[in-house]
Amino acid sequence: MTDPTSTTILLIDDDAEVRYSLTRVLTTQGYKVIEADSGESGVAAVKKGPAPDLIFLDIRMGGMGGIEALQHIRSTNPKQLVILMTAFGTAQTAIEAMKYGAFDYIMKPFDPAKVLSLAAKGVQARADMQAVGDYKPTVNPDDYREGIVGSAPVMQEVFKVIGQVTASDVTVMITGESGTGKELVARSIWKHSHRANKPFIAVNCAAIPDNLIESELFGHEKGSFTGATVQRTGKFELCDGGTIFLDEIGDMALATQTKILRVLQQGEIQRVGGTGTLKVDVRILAATNKDLEGMVKAKTFREDLYYRLNVVRIKMPPLRERQSDIPQIVDFCLQNLAKEKKTRVSKVSPEVHALFAKHNWPGNVRELENVIYRSAVIAQGDAILVKDLPADLGGSVLDAGGAAPVAIKSLTAPELTVETALDFLHLELSASDELMLPVVQKGLAQRTFTALGHDEAATAKRLGLTKPALKKLLS
Ligand SMILES: Nc1ncnc2c1ncn2[C@@H]1O[C@H](COP(=O)(O)OP(=O)(O)OP(=O)(O)O)[C@@H](O)[C@H]1O
Ligand SMILES: [Mg+2]
Repeated sequence: MTDPTSTTILLIDDDAEVRYSLTRVLTTQGYKVIEADSGESGVAAVKKGPAPDLIFLDIRMGGMGGIEALQHIRSTNPKQLVILMTAFGTAQTAIEAMKYGAFDYIMKPFDPAKVLSLAAKGVQARADMQAVGDYKPTVNPDDYREGIVGSAPVMQEVFKVIGQVTASDVTVMITGESGTGKELVARSIWKHSHRANKPFIAVNCAAIPDNLIESELFGHEKGSFTGATVQRTGKFELCDGGTIFLDEIGDMALATQTKILRVLQQGEIQRVGGTGTLKVDVRILAATNKDLEGMVKAKTFREDLYYRLNVVRIKMPPLRERQSDIPQIVDFCLQNLAKEKKTRVSKVSPEVHALFAKHNWPGNVRELENVIYRSAVIAQGDAILVKDLPADLGGSVLDAGGAAPVAIKSLTAPELTVETALDFLHLELSASDELMLPVVQKGLAQRTFTALGHDEAATAKRLGLTKPALKKLLS
């Protein structure tokens, strides 16, 4: 724990009574309190320095208001921790103010215990941030135009093979666990090939129902089946001259496999319901995380197609086998987020690095990327700390669908309702990472649904959603 006696708190409020009572509460614990009686004088004190460890800032003041003061303070010192004080009824403003980077907020009238616990939390967060130290970027995103970061020996092998297969039109099979970067590799092969100025089309074979995949790939003639009211051009035709990426090829029906074989052998396709054939010049790249050899043995994957596709194989190593790349990937993600102005976070603490190094990463790079994006949304300073991590990594943020949606933890208003929570999340998320939104909404919908005794109508009403929208969230 940090020592309160070495901690300075700046208290900005134009109400002398509030300053008096808060100062009394804080000094009982030994905190050194400096008072400012207006937004202007508070901002001036911050500009003059030295920076206080923590600021309590009133939102509604005559002259410069708290929100404006907060913006000035944060532009002077982006790392400054500020706790907003707000009267009951203006929680909305406080919630909005979180968007400008407030650390937390507290409602008046104050509960002394709450004031002290919040002060302790702020002081601890400041100590954690200082412990992280200065940041030296280890990667420059511009060096990774491919988006593939990695210098582990296993990745160097991957890069080598990519280099070898770009000159020819050879078919490449990319295998590996989910989230290891198979699609990224496919795109990289295409970008470096002589087909780079022609289309790259990715088709997810697992996502398209068996009865539609052939029409999707090869097109169909008008009237060839119920619903085929117009003629349709398939992906292979659209991709003529380019590269097609057949993702999740292990999920392709046997009948369709036969037709892919024909493209590979004869370079021709036939539209569904059509009689003639069309010549196409398309390079095929394929990916799967299934055991195709096992499928060949079980006769669920054509052996001849397997050999045709598997001319060159690139096996993407799971992230746990290239732990040394994790810090670089973390850096890369954070710098990309910062470039899109989605985060102020530029680093992770050494403890977080240690947890990352121990984690098994079943979802591989995609999982790491998600952890970074989500934690960056929650982090309050310029570093991701252990507390910002999801619980399964040792942090305190519960997953949506679990007990509490993320970010709700810092919403301490007594009148916390689903609406204010949703509002809060919208505000904070739109400013940072829209990736989070569906996850959080889903968790919230599920919780509300349970709380309201599985009453759909009541839940929809409570959340301000239509029933179909709610159903979608609950599915
Ligand atoms: N080496 C890497 N460096 C940086 N980002 C990466 C790397 N590998 C993967 N990613 C990122 O991780 C995510 C998952 O990558 P990708 O979609 O290529 O994986 P995949 O193997 O196709 O996964 P799935 O099997 O689930 O389809 C993407 O957002 C991608 O940009
Ligand atoms: Mg993929």
